[in-house]
Amino acid sequence: MNINKNTYFITGGAGFIGSNFIRFLFKRYGNGIRVINLDKLTYAGNENNLSDIEKDFHDNYKFIKVDITDDVTLSEIFKKYSPDIIVNFAAESHVDRSIKSPENFIQTNTFGVFKLLEHFKDNFYKDEKWIPNKRFIQISTDEVYGETKNKESFSEVSPLFPSSPYAASKASADLLAYSFVRTFKAPVIITRSSNNFGPYQYPEKLIPLIVNNCLNKKPIPIYGDGGNIRDWLYVEDNVRAIDIIINRGKSGEIYNIGGGNEISNIAIAKIIIDLVKNYTNSDIDYSLIRFVKDRKGHDKRYSLKTDKIRSLLNWKPETELKTALERTVRWYIDNRKWLENSTDKEYNLYYKDTYGE
Ligand code: NAD
Ligand code: TYD
Repeated sequence: MNINKNTYFITGGAGFIGSNFIRFLFKRYGNGIRVINLDKLTYAGNENNLSDIEKDFHDNYKFIKVDITDDVTLSEIFKKYSPDIIVNFAAESHVDRSIKSPENFIQTNTFGVFKLLEHFKDNFYKDEKWIPNKRFIQISTDEVYGETKNKESFSEVSPLFPSSPYAASKASADLLAYSFVRTFKAPVIITRSSNNFGPYQYPEKLIPLIVNNCLNKKPIPIYGDGGNIRDWLYVEDNVRAIDIIINRGKSGEIYNIGGGNEISNIAIAKIIIDLVKNYTNSDIDYSLIRFVKDRKGHDKRYSLKTDKIRSLLNWKPETELKTALERTVRWYIDNRKWLENSTDKEYNLYYKDTYGE
């Protein structure tokens, strides 16, 4: 492993957004960085998501299996690698699972963030001063604002009204992170993005779930009347935003990252069915859609104001929804093996328990 390079600790780097971020970093900076991927490998994490990076950047990339609440190991790793930039993606990330069993969510998403902040401070805050150029990026979510009730969108100063245990665990982490900013002037930045989609997303989430069910001609469960609206963001636009925030974002600030693509679940489902049908010459149609019991506390709509990141950091989403969905669907079709490996025994148990088939 090379030294004297910008060292990133990417927690949760074996998951969906984290693995896309690590791949983006190596594409952009090549051997000019080193990355330590710290991941517990829950059902949602897969070390093989980065097997290409492991091979091509062997000297600059290291995977360590660790739980972010594991104090002893974190202590050792901080001392050994002294990271410059910590980007925390590690989380339990699925709302439905948080409704069924929230404890892991509080443990990882709240307590885990507290532990990371503590280690960050223990290592880099000396005599009431921060060692220069250290940064901690907490990856949060638009779900901390709760449901957008009227035509308004949420800005970074909107109040936090999380609906699900998942959203509450993330909001709690944001408050802890912000308390470190206020109390210790910690160089922490919070990002709050809208719903991501793209390659390597675990197929419990709406978009890959629809693709997978289309490929297997299985019913597509749509909660309630399908009228709930999400603002979809292509993962590549999100990881590019995070990189800009690391380099040019202001310490102590919060940045919303929204795709500007508000669309209902039923409309997204139909687009994806059409794409899979076309790409695979399949005879599937919309009759695969099944309206099922609504999610408890289901937020009707999410909507973000993104003026801050657009005007101060000159970022905007660059991939049109149509293009991004085409690329995404193609990726899952071309990587059916990945989908098959992800939909393992645990997945099937979860699926049966959730959808009853
Ligand atoms: P994911 O579920 O695909 O990946 C999470 C990763 O964290 C997995 O690799 C898992 O093994 C790891 N992990 C879980 N608990 C851990 C622990 N205790 N210690 C170490 N690693 C642990 O999630 P994702 O969709 O990639 O989301 C990444 C981050 O982005 C999360 O913090 C999430 O809240 C946030 N976010 C996601 C979205 C989205 O649409 N996916 C939107 C906004 C914000
Ligand atoms: P999801 O991908 O779980 O993300 P989040 O809950 O974080 O927004 O769900 C996106 C939307 O799709 C949300 O409104 C719930 C809905 N949904 C369904 O209708 N059916 C499903 O099977 C899933 C997983 C989600």
